[in-house]
Amino acid sequence: MALGMLATSQSKLEEIYRATIGGLDDRDHVLLVGERDGEIVAMAQLVRARATNATHRAEVRRVAVAAGARGGGIGARMMRAIDDAARTRTITLLWLTTHARTAACAFYEEAGYTRLGVMPSYSARPDGSLADGAFFYRELS
Ligand SMILES: CC(C)(COP(=O)(O)OP(=O)(O)OC[C@H]1O[C@@H](n2cnc3c(N)ncnc32)[C@H](O)[C@@H]1OP(=O)(O)O)[C@@H](O)C(=O)NCCC(=O)NCCS
Repeated sequence: MALGMLATSQSKLEEIYRATIGGLDDRDHVLLVGERDGEIVAMAQLVRARATNATHRAEVRRVAVAAGARGGGIGARMMRAIDDAARTRTITLLWLTTHARTAACAFYEEAGYTRLGVMPSYSARPDGSLADGAFFYRELS
């Protein structure tokens, strides 16, 4: 599964949706989809930790709004939907990582996440170069 984060097209979102939905267990892996006028324009995943001592913890993955739908509050609504999905599953700690020094960092802070720090060379970009990863968490009450 791959996602070109800087130019997320609707067809790419649909491709990820179809690749993901096959193996989902609703208790531990949630795929959230945002629609506008019957088309998928946003997506996010909530993945509960597998460790038996961490069932209260989940990773937020693959938050994305289609390029033509950004800047209108859809991403913020998606983050609230993630909170709601977590609470209904007794998940109280969320965490995520994103490329450091990108606009996504401000987006997550606006959504109530706290930045933990930056891990160097955390993940590969599509061109193969390595990018630093910024780590965030959010506690739900
Ligand atoms: C990051 C992303 C999900 C934001 O979605 P969005 O629908 O455009 O975000 P919203 O319109 O809901 O913005 C909510 C708040 O986040 C912040 N924000 C959003 N985009 C921002 C940007 N480019 N720069 C700085 N702050 C930003 C703002 O505080 C904004 O509130 P405001 O509009 O009242 O100022 C979207 O831009 C995206 O899909 N980007 C590419 C993929 C990506 O980077 N995903 C996250 C990393 S895995």
